[in-house]
Amino acid sequence: MTALTPSQTPAWLALEAHARATATLHTRALFDADPQRFSRMHAELPGLLFDYSKHAVTAETMALLQDLARERGVPEARAAMLRGDAINVTEHRAVLHTALRAQSDTGLVVDGQPVYPLVQAELAKMQALSERLGRGELLGHTGEPITDIVNIGIGGSDLGPVMVSEALRPFWREGLRAHFVSNVDGADLTGVLGRVRAATTLFLIASKTFTTDETLTNAHSARAWLLHQLGAGPEAVAKHFVALSTNTAGVVEFGIDPANMLEFWDWVGGRYSLWSAIGTSLACVLGMEHFDALLAGAADVDAHFRDAPLDQNIPVLMALLGVFHHNFRGAATHAVLPYDQHLHRFPAYLQQADMESNGKRVRRSGEDVVGYETGPVVWGEPGTNGQHAFYQLLHQGTGVVPADFLVAARSQCPLGRHHDKLVANCFAQTEALMRGRTLAEARAELRSSGLPPDEVERLAPHKVFPGNRSTSTFLYEQLDPRTLGRLIALYEHKIFVQGVIWDVNSYDQMGVELGKQLAKAILPELDGQGEVLGHDASTAALITRYRDLRRG
Ligand code: F6P
Repeated sequence: MTALTPSQTPAWLALEAHARATATLHTRALFDADPQRFSRMHAELPGLLFDYSKHAVTAETMALLQDLARERGVPEARAAMLRGDAINVTEHRAVLHTALRAQSDTGLVVDGQPVYPLVQAELAKMQALSERLGRGELLGHTGEPITDIVNIGIGGSDLGPVMVSEALRPFWREGLRAHFVSNVDGADLTGVLGRVRAATTLFLIASKTFTTDETLTNAHSARAWLLHQLGAGPEAVAKHFVALSTNTAGVVEFGIDPANMLEFWDWVGGRYSLWSAIGTSLACVLGMEHFDALLAGAADVDAHFRDAPLDQNIPVLMALLGVFHHNFRGAATHAVLPYDQHLHRFPAYLQQADMESNGKRVRRSGEDVVGYETGPVVWGEPGTNGQHAFYQLLHQGTGVVPADFLVAARSQCPLGRHHDKLVANCFAQTEALMRGRTLAEARAELRSSGLPPDEVERLAPHKVFPGNRSTSTFLYEQLDPRTLGRLIALYEHKIFVQGVIWDVNSYDQMGVELGKQLAKAILPELDGQGEVLGHDASTAALITRYRDLRRG
């Protein structure tokens, strides 16, 4: 990889010059000038189309971006990740979520251990658990079959499983339900416990480290509730608690027998862990065949990412387009807009995946702070709801917000004309964002509605849409497990490529630590009586006022 700062590389400088030279180009004009634009600016996987022709870019932009990818060593970095090099440089760890979904043994060895057999052994345990559940053979302490799974975890130990379980609701097995508790706010656990019966509930305690305070607090409260409800002693825990973790000692200390533990490894990052034992709630509620299909979908994309040339490589294209908008066009955020109600947690899932990975300011070597934008704010809501909330700003606001639109050709829940209407809205939004509406068009439209000339002039400026707002559209056959696996993996690899270009370590998360440390210090102070010392005046006043208010 080049020793130059990314923003000093020839390709970066060429992109800066190119961005200046093309600042006034409008995508509408690019479409008018080139009827073949769509055919040249899309890429495909079986059953999935990625259309990026509505981005405000030209063929030259794409060529320069590919130069940047090569100069930044993306192909070499990709090979290093896939062969298990310790690319998580701060933690000296390999990054091998791809190995969790490998469809055959490629002979990969990490820390002296062949990876494929390890993964397969854990998958076999997941399958066994899932099958016993499915057959009604998994019995609780009182002998009743388990019907409800409660996953207790947070961050990567929650968001992936929640998102997938919501996305694949129509695939849930009959008679089984999954619930998720993440927040240390007691309202979360209380809400879920109000919906389940202790005798028929299995708690999955999902924590890579098994030290996360929120998860352990919820797990201890869940255990106390269970034993109280059943009127049982600790012997009941074995029938109702399973641990998903890398930390056997922590699991034992909590009181879960290692026989009731599904394991994964430190080369699986938390936000990339839904493919591991962390996905056990999914294997349970969807059935193993669907979990396997999810893995197979991700593996399809791993192969595509590994083999497709850069200019046809969907995650690479997604990454490069993002880099162009964030670093050369001033976009600070990136919207993810699924026209798919069941993907309503997809933006939240991607927030962690992307922002915890690339929300960094120090270069991989630690030698300096980057002098350019890195990870954007990722946000979004499903369409069409978002259209009645924040799309106003997307169309007519002053900022640039590149956006991903995701939509299925076949609905998971066909109902009259609902799906065609949904799709029509999706396509209309990307067209409107791209085309905009000129002042002349606004005037003509107002005139044709019969308004007097002075009203036309008064209103026309407000009806102008600048257009030229860049969007990608992902059109897929149906949101099934395999397609969802593909979508997730596309974003995972996009994040990887951007991390390489920005020269940040996408695989640590040190930015979450300081707040955790301070919370530990503040907790005992909330019970204190005297003066609050050692804090700034604001924090000290808040602690004091909290104590007063809590007393009532
Ligand atoms: O938010 C920080 C973080 O470490 C995430 O990366 C992780 O997904 C989450 O906490 C939960 O961690 P664990 O699985 O170890 O409980």
